[in-house]
Amino acid sequence: MGFLIAIDGPAGSGKSTVAKAVASRLGFGYLDTGAMYRAVAWAGLSQGLARTDADGVLALTESIALELSADPNDPWVRWDGRDVTEPIRRPEVSAWVSTVATNPGCRSELVDRQRAIVAGRDFVLEGRDTTTVVAPQAQVRVLLVADPEVRLRRRGAELGPAVDRSGLVDQVLRRDREDSALVEFERPASGVTVIDSTELTVAQVVDRIVGLADQAGLGRLTGSDPLV
Ligand code: DC
Repeated sequence: MGFLIAIDGPAGSGKSTVAKAVASRLGFGYLDTGAMYRAVAWAGLSQGLARTDADGVLALTESIALELSADPNDPWVRWDGRDVTEPIRRPEVSAWVSTVATNPGCRSELVDRQRAIVAGRDFVLEGRDTTTVVAPQAQVRVLLVADPEVRLRRRGAELGPAVDRSGLVDQVLRRDREDSALVEFERPASGVTVIDSTELTVAQVVDRIVGLADQAGLGRLTGSDPLV
């Protein structure tokens, strides 16, 4: 049986950075579930699909050929064999992605694919329903939170000066509101550990999660960290 670490959290909470660092440190695979929602949104945009065409968006999701690298140090995404790692981060995709994320049929299809990817393997998976829907059986489940101002600042640093404050508010806070209409990700489910990263460095958050993995028996499984 594989060892799973699931990390949820709102935009700008640092979940991607932390999830990749944890996977890299433990030698685990890495799955960014949000990248799958983004890739479908990019495909919809590229094909000129209307956001209101729910059946079209569902048909696209069910048929799309997606490949994701499991390497936390090189997490590329391919659609139909083409590398779409960069375009899926564009602002127009962020605006479109809630169309996919709020379509229950699309969620069900992507959740099935995500479960198949991590089944029986050691993986860190990140995304808003990973602790509750995709992998509620994960040995470690973390909800990473941070103050809204800090989240805006972090996303701003990622996106650079081209995006002004109203653009950031739109991408971080409005999207959280839209997504939370379908997925409850801001309150932890039972058994989920909340880590507030507002005043922690990435290394401190990673240490805590690796500590949780040890408590959950990872050291015993790998023999890498003898318990005293
Ligand atoms: O984490 P992110 O910003 O890359 O996520 C992109 C979008 O997909 C965002 O609108 C939330 C949504 N999402 C989701 O609904 N469920 C997931 N497991 C991952 C992402």
